[in-house]
Amino acid sequence: MDTGATGGTGAAGQPSSRSRDLAEIHEGMSLAQKKLSPKYFYDEHGSQLFEAICELPEYYPTRTEIGIMRDFLPEMARYIGPEANVIEFGIGSGLKTKLLLDALERPVAFIPVDISGEHLLETVEALRSDFPDLQMLPVATDFTRPFPVPETHAESRRNLVYFPGSTIGNFEPEAAIDLLRVMYREAGEGGCLLIGADLQKDIEVLERAYNDSQGITARFNLNMLRRLNGEYGADFELDNFRHNAVYNPHDGRIEMHLVSEKDQQVSIGEHEYSLERNETICSEYSYKYTLPQFADMAAQAGFTVKKVWTDSKGWFSLQYCERR
Ligand code: AVJ
Repeated sequence: MDTGATGGTGAAGQPSSRSRDLAEIHEGMSLAQKKLSPKYFYDEHGSQLFEAICELPEYYPTRTEIGIMRDFLPEMARYIGPEANVIEFGIGSGLKTKLLLDALERPVAFIPVDISGEHLLETVEALRSDFPDLQMLPVATDFTRPFPVPETHAESRRNLVYFPGSTIGNFEPEAAIDLLRVMYREAGEGGCLLIGADLQKDIEVLERAYNDSQGITARFNLNMLRRLNGEYGADFELDNFRHNAVYNPHDGRIEMHLVSEKDQQVSIGEHEYSLERNETICSEYSYKYTLPQFADMAAQAGFTVKKVWTDSKGWFSLQYCERR
């Protein structure tokens, strides 16, 4: 397990995940439009802020997705079938996972994969008492890179990759297809995918969801800078930045930005960067799809969308896909 806690090189002579992260941060901060990966949101505090976001009145995705699950889980379970291994990419509060595992017929093992090891173990502990007979095999890693699926005690019929929340929307189309290809691989022969995908809708609804009135999303966004200060040797002055989220209609995505309030210099490790007043660092994309767009991406990764469930407003979708 790569904990990312050490510098230098890893056991196999590969650069450690920390030095890879630093190289990636430098690359993003050197672009004309400065960019940081949304994976840096999720330290302990960031994960808590994200859970608070999910409860916000303006943030429709979580509640809409849970509504779709409550309405259609028995049907979803029939598509998936009995005795599946459930491989969850990323882990949230555990509520959706619990609903899914409750609905499935005799699931064999639960294999959550998340970059935040601490959060992963807490959530697994909380689920253990609800499913005492289910084997739990947490994997703490960056799921965008292929990883070995741990051995399970019991024989399963198939792997189900579960990727709720429209986290896929964080990735630009090419990278999203690459990630779907990782899922294709982890699903294995006869495997399937149940994935949440947020859909196109009114711009006002979208922008409100990412600029909430309580300022929780702003704190979530700024927490990334605090984390870079603590873990990657950066010296961001948090008071010199503010949050802004805008919908980019050309690319069909919400963009979260950290706006520089003045001309300033920041350093991260050995590197220094200049920011002009009102220049931004883009911290996240959140793509919103049409159904044909999403089916096309899935197809490019080898998946066929077999069934789509949505809410009555058509705001969010859960999609069941099989390997072609
Ligand atoms: C976890 C990536 C699905 O894009 O809606 C919420 C993250 N960012 N509010 C999203 C997020 C700001 C969320 N995802």
